[in-house]
Amino acid sequence: MQKITTTVLKKMKQSGEKFTCLTAYDASFAIAQEEAGVEVILVGDSLGMVVKGQVSTLSVSMDEMVYHSANVARPCQKSLIMTDLPFASDITKEQTLANAARLMSEGGSHMVKIEGGALMLETIEFLSQRGVAVCSHLGLLPQSVYKMGGYRIQGRTKQEADQILSDAIALEHAGADILLLECVPAELAERVTSSVNVPVIGIGAGVNCDAQVLVCYDMLGLTHGTPASFVKNFLKDSDSIQDAFKSYVEQVKNGQFPGIEHSYS
Ligand code: KIV
Repeated sequence: MQKITTTVLKKMKQSGEKFTCLTAYDASFAIAQEEAGVEVILVGDSLGMVVKGQVSTLSVSMDEMVYHSANVARPCQKSLIMTDLPFASDITKEQTLANAARLMSEGGSHMVKIEGGALMLETIEFLSQRGVAVCSHLGLLPQSVYKMGGYRIQGRTKQEADQILSDAIALEHAGADILLLECVPAELAERVTSSVNVPVIGIGAGVNCDAQVLVCYDMLGLTHGTPASFVKNFLKDSDSIQDAFKSYVEQVKNGQFPGIEHSYS
């Protein structure tokens, strides 16, 4: 695998080659994912749930994100490292820039992910103009779980779908380098993906996104409780964790994952 940059990912979108993303929170998982050919490693604030055992992502602090980001970034040579800005670390654009700078300088991250649409436009533009690569997270926003009334599929009404599409286009114009769509109908994700020039990563968003992401523990069958219907256990038919990562990469690239059973209508 070549060294992955935003330029490489944009070229992959243009040529129709799908890329892969998985979460990692430590060096060992990051090495195994990079060796399997995972292009983007996400240090997700899902660590609040899968590492800390909390019920949501809300308790995750900036210090924790910096610590886990550094542990993931340290051994990686090729994958692009993307790190979440945790809950309430992005209230003002100046605060967001200062926190993004920490994730990059102390945490070794190449890109930050920020939840939110139209409300975040000014912030995305501010960061982008100052040289920070940004992924904008749309659809289900786990940091807004209490406001959204639970982990629910987004974009099912015409009004919600139109808002997500117009947010996606506006975020691209503001300077977002990647979009991430969580838990939206596959048809809406396809519309968004074909309406923007930047790559779109999907989770529970159907097969027609430019890339897919899963929480690594979920795709290894380690979900506490019932996994979401968009999750597939790749360890079930593999001999090792390394093989499960390779199988994920292969199945995303050849369009086998996600199937209809992992998608919403
Ligand atoms: O924190 C995370 O793991 C995420 C994924 C669910 C996309 O944001």
